[in-house]
Amino acid sequence: MNEAHHHPAGRPTLLSPAEITRVLDTARFAPSAHNTQPWVPEFRTEEARTPEAHTALVLRVDPERTLPVADPRHEDLTLALGCWLEAAAITLRQNGSDLRIDAVTGNGPDLHVRATVVESAPDGRAQTTSAKAATVETFTPADVRDRCVDRGRLLPDPAALDRALTAWTAEDPRSSRAESGDGDAALRIVEVTEAVWSRAAGLSRYALLSSAPVFEETLAWLRLDPREPQYREDGLTADTLRIPAPLARGMHALVGTGRSVPTHLVHRLVRAAAVGVGGTVDRVVRRTGNRRRADRSPTSDRYDVGARFRALSRQNPHRLALLVPTAGSAPSPTVLLAHGRRLYRLWLHLAGAGLRVNVASELKDVPEAARRLTPDPRLRPLAAFSAGRSRDQRVPRAPRLP
Ligand SMILES: Cc1cc2nc3c(=O)[nH]c(=O)nc-3n(C[C@H](O)[C@H](O)[C@H](O)COP(=O)(O)O)c2cc1C
Repeated sequence: MNEAHHHPAGRPTLLSPAEITRVLDTARFAPSAHNTQPWVPEFRTEEARTPEAHTALVLRVDPERTLPVADPRHEDLTLALGCWLEAAAITLRQNGSDLRIDAVTGNGPDLHVRATVVESAPDGRAQTTSAKAATVETFTPADVRDRCVDRGRLLPDPAALDRALTAWTAEDPRSSRAESGDGDAALRIVEVTEAVWSRAAGLSRYALLSSAPVFEETLAWLRLDPREPQYREDGLTADTLRIPAPLARGMHALVGTGRSVPTHLVHRLVRAAAVGVGGTVDRVVRRTGNRRRADRSPTSDRYDVGARFRALSRQNPHRLALLVPTAGSAPSPTVLLAHGRRLYRLWLHLAGAGLRVNVASELKDVPEAARRLTPDPRLRPLAAFSAGRSRDQRVPRAPRLP
């Protein structure tokens, strides 16, 4: 990987209060599942540890902002923290510093990351051109703020996708679009056919919506009433979910009546809303899609010209899966944080190419669906998302905590 991004070797440095505020103000735009924003960052001045005073970061988790039912292995949680770290690092790099991760302890709600703010031009390291290129940050705090998911219609753009994937892959030679890399840090991105995606989506939608605990947990993060203060703070707003206002009001009325809520009814409404957004396309594709072809070729890379043509002709977005090796034990929090940073940079590269993503974590959370997204049983999806050009001029933005 772009080693300079993860293991900067510069000297510890001190940030001004204004710089700290800038980092915090930018990094909060990092993405997180259900927009829980589970990070609790704290910058401190370390006086005693080195000859010079410098700024250290302690990053923790707010246990109230985790998803124990939907994310029992804390994968999405750790990915989101990785996104936050990368957003913070991008902000720092703009001013000649960077984040050096010193220690990762605990897991899930007990995850604890210690980092040091260091000078980003590491002496003796930026000698070769390639090392120098690696330390140049492509993204700015504005890019961090501008990126957003779009759950509306996304249109394919193969050339833009190509640009983004090329730029992303170039940052880390271990990431690949075609071959599996080595070691547990390797990530692989694949584009799957519409038929494969659609079947995986069908399987996962059924599995998740029929799970009452998952549904209840999601309900707690749904923001249906724009008059509530939380609507401007966190969670999934009706606006960003593209739930029409009257439907959102109806759902809110049901949910608002308390725990005796006829959950199955809300459940059906949410399903109706979800189908309204993504289901129409899926249904059409399922009816016309060639199942045998889907079975024979569980995924095709971007090199599958046929897949691209089919995607283009149907105007479906690109369907992407980020794959990690299944070998051995589950990835450690350290590895997952690094994956979160890479995933986030991929979304930023897509945004840089004019594309937005629509994340579909249920596809990787439901094993039957996840299996469909990988060409190789030694790999499993860590993230699944569509990518394309937003059709709508105005994309509703997710709120953030102050
Ligand atoms: C690890 C991870 C998993 C996510 N999973 C989903 C998902 O399954 N469905 C979805 O609609 N959005 C998903 N998202 C997107 C978040 O809901 C989104 O980032 C958040 O609401 C903030 O919105 P923004 O990215 O537009 O700023 C996921 C994001 C992350 C980081």
